[in-house]
Amino acid sequence: MEVIGLDIGFGYTKATNGQRFIVFKTVYGEAAELQFREQLLSDPEEEDYLHVEIDDHNYFVGELAERQSLERYFTLDQSQFVAEFTKVLALTPLANMVERQEPIKLVAGLPISHYRRHRNELINILKGQHPLVVVNKNGEREDTVVRVSEVRVVPQPFGTVMNLMLSELGEVRDRRFLTEKIGVIDVGFRTTDYTIADRTRYSERGSRTTDTGISRAYSTIASKLQESSGVNVELYRLYDAMDRGSIKIHGKRYDLKLVKEHAYSQLASAIATDANRLWANDWDIDRVMITGGGGAVLAPFLTGLLKGEIMPIEPGTDTRLNNVRGYWKYGKRMWTRGSGAKKTA
Ligand SMILES: Nc1ncnc2c1ncn2[C@@H]1O[C@H](COP(=O)(O)OP(=O)(O)OP(=O)(O)O)[C@@H](O)[C@H]1O
Ligand SMILES: [Mg+2]
Repeated sequence: MEVIGLDIGFGYTKATNGQRFIVFKTVYGEAAELQFREQLLSDPEEEDYLHVEIDDHNYFVGELAERQSLERYFTLDQSQFVAEFTKVLALTPLANMVERQEPIKLVAGLPISHYRRHRNELINILKGQHPLVVVNKNGEREDTVVRVSEVRVVPQPFGTVMNLMLSELGEVRDRRFLTEKIGVIDVGFRTTDYTIADRTRYSERGSRTTDTGISRAYSTIASKLQESSGVNVELYRLYDAMDRGSIKIHGKRYDLKLVKEHAYSQLASAIATDANRLWANDWDIDRVMITGGGGAVLAPFLTGLLKGEIMPIEPGTDTRLNNVRGYWKYGKRMWTRGSGAKKTA
């Protein structure tokens, strides 16, 4: 039996078995024809080659799809996301991480506002036996079966809270969290989730999802770029450019530093306003934690705007992984803790 945490975000899909992490951009597409494979092979930059066949469809997943697929699937719509995207996005890392037929106990998340609506649907999609083919870099195909025996779906920021509270063994790590009231702001690519962990209890009142993810800033920049270059740059192709602060289109370099600063500070102020309003009654919050990949990007803009004590982000942590780490620890606690007898694989 293997416990897996799976966080299918609009920006990145993250999975872990506690030892290894698989992280890829949440995009997939039709696998390209064989003659392209020669080129792929000789590409020294090639990192993760994620290629699967599911239900007779051949897919490139993540960065490979971004680079090589002619037709690509990417969405920012929650209903479409769950119904059409989760299967490919979930089975790909599971097939790459877990031995054939090994039963998987899975913890996955949904944004707070979609939790009730999509929870059962997500469980139904993921649970059960899923035959598929994994294709490696050399084009060698291997039949496998992903066997998901249990699925637990939790509200997304719950993962970050669990990650704070629990050790790698699923034990309570820091007793401080048992006595404190902590506000969590999870800024993702599309959504921002707000939640309060009040002495380990989850507070409905202080929890909400808004669409103030990083992609909002990306959209502003994409439309500016369309005006100046005439090219409609897909949002998921902007990550590197945003990181670098410039983009080259048709040979011409566009500087993004100023527009980026402006878009990020606007976004941060929208998020801070939402948080301060949502938590107006919760003035007894001990500390506020900023998480999610977008949280790391916006943290410098958010401090000063948010009320209360903000927990500093530990240098060197990839905040995109906070939820998935917590999902895994929670699964560990639920399914393996203190019961050696249950561990028969
Ligand atoms: N090392 C990194 N690599 C790529 N993006 C990063 C990195 N660190 C921070 N980011 C930022 O993280 C954002 C994605 O964050 P995250 O993975 O938490 O979103 P998500 O969970 O996919 O989205 P959502 O929660 O809305 O579904 C990117 O838009 C980027 O701005
Ligand atoms: Mg997320």
